[in-house]
Amino acid sequence: MSAKIIDGKAIAADLRAQVALETKRISAAQGLVPGLAVVLIGDNAASKSYVTSKSRALVEVGMRPFDHQLPGDTSEAELLALVEKLNADPAVHGILVQMPLPPQINPQRIIGGIQPDKDVDGFHPMNFGRMAARLPTMVPCTPIACMKLVNSVHASIDGCDALMVGRSTIVGNPLAQLLLAANTTVTIAHSHTRNLPDLCRRADLLFVAIGRAEYVRGAWIKPGATVVDIGINRVVDAGGKSRIVGDVCFAEAVKVAGAITPVPGGVGPMTIACLLVNTLRAACMQARLPPPGV
Ligand code: GUN
Repeated sequence: MSAKIIDGKAIAADLRAQVALETKRISAAQGLVPGLAVVLIGDNAASKSYVTSKSRALVEVGMRPFDHQLPGDTSEAELLALVEKLNADPAVHGILVQMPLPPQINPQRIIGGIQPDKDVDGFHPMNFGRMAARLPTMVPCTPIACMKLVNSVHASIDGCDALMVGRSTIVGNPLAQLLLAANTTVTIAHSHTRNLPDLCRRADLLFVAIGRAEYVRGAWIKPGATVVDIGINRVVDAGGKSRIVGDVCFAEAVKVAGAITPVPGGVGPMTIACLLVNTLRAACMQARLPPPGV
């Protein structure tokens, strides 16, 4: 049996088209053009490529990107000063500071400096707290992207056993909150977890975000399970050719799972589409308009 491939690219294209329509509507009716500041520090190749994709997607749906590229030796005070400037700029509705940051900058101080209603990443402690309390808030893009992909193949996940492998503040921790709110029984596994393969074998829904290329093997997967691979790893094969793979060994997993997201073309494009949704929401909220219909 071969798993259903969850086409993140197609689902994201559909969501982006809806965002483009809503953006056009509010731009025409209210003269409001949603703007997102994307801040990149240093020259990490992967971060550069993500930031470029985000800015391109913004333009495609009719939003305004404000790109800020700062040198790798930027100080925490300098970055905080930029964040303050962006907080005060009425054309900027969302602020995204690309992670990871260089070692001289404490990410929590930067995240805490972003005005919560401009925090389109949903990383600010106030937004995280509101999400954990199940109050309306800005939900982090990758976790909400994963939920939408799972919902594309499940009418309900109520009562399912979900395993979140990885406990980062960007993905694992918030995604576990969303899974709990969706009435799944959630386990969070991390680098200190014992016997990961056995835990994986019990999961109806398996989410992996550990940043280790093809770490989760096909034999660890419960037959028929839904697998969401959040990893993006560049590997070089024996012939010297480089390619992108996830945290799950796709070639093995696809033979066992019921449904699986590919890498690339799964969670990545959906995360960007969800960032556009959050930017549109932030713009509407700041203009005191009703929330958009996406
Ligand atoms: N680095 C990797 N993923 C993300 C993300 O979703 N937001 C930000 N700001 N940085 C990231």
